[in-house]
Amino acid sequence: MSTTPSKKLWGGRFRSEVASGAQGFTQSTEIDSRLVAYDIWGSQAHAIMLARAEIISDEDLRQILTWLDRAQEDYDNGIFNLKPDKEDVHMNVESYVIDGAGIECGGKLHTARSRNDQVLVDAHLYVRDQILQTQSGLTRLCRVFLGIASNHAETVMPGYTHMQHAQPISLGFWATAYVSMFLRDLKRLKAAFRLANMNPLGACAIAGTSFSIDRHLTTKLLGFDSVHRHALDVISSRDFIAETLFALSLLMTNLSRLGEETIYWTTHEFGIAVLDDAYATGSSIMPQKKNPDIAELVRGRCGRVYGELLDLLTNLKGLPLGYNRDLQEDKPPLWDAFDVVQSCLNILPGFLETTRFNTDRMAELCNANFATATELANFLVREYGIPFRECHEIVGGIVGDLVKKGATFEDLDETRNLLQLRGICLSTSELRAVLDSKHALRGSLSLGGTSPAEVQRMTSEFGAELADIDAQILLRKEEIDVAYNQTHQIIEEVAAGRAIARVDSPCWA
Ligand code: ARG
Repeated sequence: MSTTPSKKLWGGRFRSEVASGAQGFTQSTEIDSRLVAYDIWGSQAHAIMLARAEIISDEDLRQILTWLDRAQEDYDNGIFNLKPDKEDVHMNVESYVIDGAGIECGGKLHTARSRNDQVLVDAHLYVRDQILQTQSGLTRLCRVFLGIASNHAETVMPGYTHMQHAQPISLGFWATAYVSMFLRDLKRLKAAFRLANMNPLGACAIAGTSFSIDRHLTTKLLGFDSVHRHALDVISSRDFIAETLFALSLLMTNLSRLGEETIYWTTHEFGIAVLDDAYATGSSIMPQKKNPDIAELVRGRCGRVYGELLDLLTNLKGLPLGYNRDLQEDKPPLWDAFDVVQSCLNILPGFLETTRFNTDRMAELCNANFATATELANFLVREYGIPFRECHEIVGGIVGDLVKKGATFEDLDETRNLLQLRGICLSTSELRAVLDSKHALRGSLSLGGTSPAEVQRMTSEFGAELADIDAQILLRKEEIDVAYNQTHQIIEEVAAGRAIARVDSPCWA
């Protein structure tokens, strides 16, 4: 059969070459380079399914698989490069197979498939791996926080509201707060993983196909949980990417808040944390400077990830159903978001682990500005049966008087006198105990409170949850490996000359 000679695999209806500007404008090979291995695996699964469904012959399959394997090998060795004039990863890989196996055989690979479902397969496989990697990085960071929590369940520091001293908390309590929020980030990532772990292959261009393909088989070969059930919907949608970008955005929010806290904790004014020299930077002009650039860059890069989420949402909102080339633009923001988040997760464990906490300064600050006032009011409620609102008024009055005198609760005699004036007689030792921040800390035994007992309980509970999540991540990685190995076992058997009907694989079950 004669075909119109054209350089493009889709060139049949075209009578002239694409302008070089148009070529450069539309191609995505640089971005697509992260997808090569996924595109090849997707193609292998597709070809095996075609042969199994008797849409292509065993011999065609053998040839196609041989050249797909070689494509990967040559790509790894730098012999096969993605050429911009072939537009994208899909056309490059398919062309490689056609060049090797010939059009008669290699030209059959694209039966019952479109680049529209192909690009989705690649992106689903990519997102899946990246989410697992991000989760692993985050559990590592959580463990550093849990280390701080175990060492500092009794280390008092001021807790803040409105950036004003509020109540004593422990450094361990602060650390567990981050783990508590990161555990939610991990859950959001897990939900995003589930959405990404569905098979779009077989949706073809938008409408499915008239070939009797087996979408369940490619689902197994690619290690997906299930098949994506609607062809037009899956081709049109990128919510698995939007969900991922949202999970990454919130995670960056939390990392950025950590950055912000460490930045002002290391100021001269606060002085409650000191960065290790290995994780700080200097000034080109001011010799004395030691700057928290890592924390600032975590904070500073957060906006990039938000921007990427907004980029995608804006892209999607005006798209009619079906494939639109706008969708090609889903990848740069996704790549960058994972890169930013993972680089933060790579640096932060070491950064935090080496940060020294100035516990004396924390204790000093804790006593400097009436942080135990609420505890004093609580004491009056308990000991004297006075309604809390009245105790609040009494203690507030005492604080106001002390402030006027330039004194604090550390001036015990003064505080005692002021209580006495209001008809409350306490011994100095009794008052000292009530106003002691450690005492306040120990008393906050309510569920989720700052008492050492609760911090220890949360530390072990969170630790167990993290171990569970790590085990789930491992299981997911194993599932992916099993599917990959199964695909490759079939490839080996086919290469060894076995007919696909006689290949003995659990995938057929
Ligand atoms: N490079 C494209 C993308 O990333 C692949 C799909 C192209 N499909 C098409 N009909 N032009 O979305």
